Amino acid sequence: MNKATRKTVIAGNWKMNMTPDAASAFMKELAPMVAGKDECDIVLCVPAVDIAAAVEAAKGTNIKIGAQNVHFKASGAYTGELSAEMLTAAGVKYVVIGHSERRQYFGETDQTVNLRTLAAVNAGLTAIVCVGETLEQRELGYTETLLKFQTKMALTNVTKDQLKNIIVAYEPVWAIGTGVTATADQADEGNGYVRAAIAEMFGADVAETVTVQYGGSMNDANAAELLSKVNVDGGLIGGASLKTDKFTAIVDAAQ
Ligand code: PGA
Repeated sequence: MNKATRKTVIAGNWKMNMTPDAASAFMKELAPMVAGKDECDIVLCVPAVDIAAAVEAAKGTNIKIGAQNVHFKASGAYTGELSAEMLTAAGVKYVVIGHSERRQYFGETDQTVNLRTLAAVNAGLTAIVCVGETLEQRELGYTETLLKFQTKMALTNVTKDQLKNIIVAYEPVWAIGTGVTATADQADEGNGYVRAAIAEMFGADVAETVTVQYGGSMNDANAAELLSKVNVDGGLIGGASLKTDKFTAIVDAAQ
């Protein structure tokens, strides 16, 4: 972690888990466990129906609430979607964009990831933009090319100033929900490709200030080693964010 130039952010991604009641109960349990642990920002990205309960439960704590997607239009006939204004009005501060599950199952493309990213930062949300290669792409030797391409596409037309509200999460698709974690060196290398792409767009000095997370089976057992790498500025955590003790252990590893 290079705390001198960038923030460490530990973000949970609950995916399609937890009812509003379960979200409230989880938050009440978690809040005292992570209280005062201010060496990293702590975020939980929750299902849309849980936002109200989670925002309420997060009041007076050091936990911030995120959403899992945002539409790029301000309003209109887009059934099932949520605008950035709706999210900010509901108390949301962060939003996950371009998660590989959205790319794989819901037709998300590099273009729509870019549009959603712009909508988020224009509304003052912090975008957690996900990039990552499949196993096939890795085995063909395209990891660097792919990560740089996805990063540059996602950040097209983003200004230097808006970049302050962007986190990129490197999530190798083969490591998500599989229990297979990238080695710390693989995570560092992937995050390094992301940072190199940002440097090519915005300059090396600016790239040094951007938080680049690792995600993919990060847990209480491997977080400390992953977070010890210079390019790993935090984690985007799925499965292990559904258990208060495991999530707290990851927060502890970032202290
Ligand atoms: P996982 O999910 O930690 O369950 O692998 C990570 C993610 O998809 O963000």
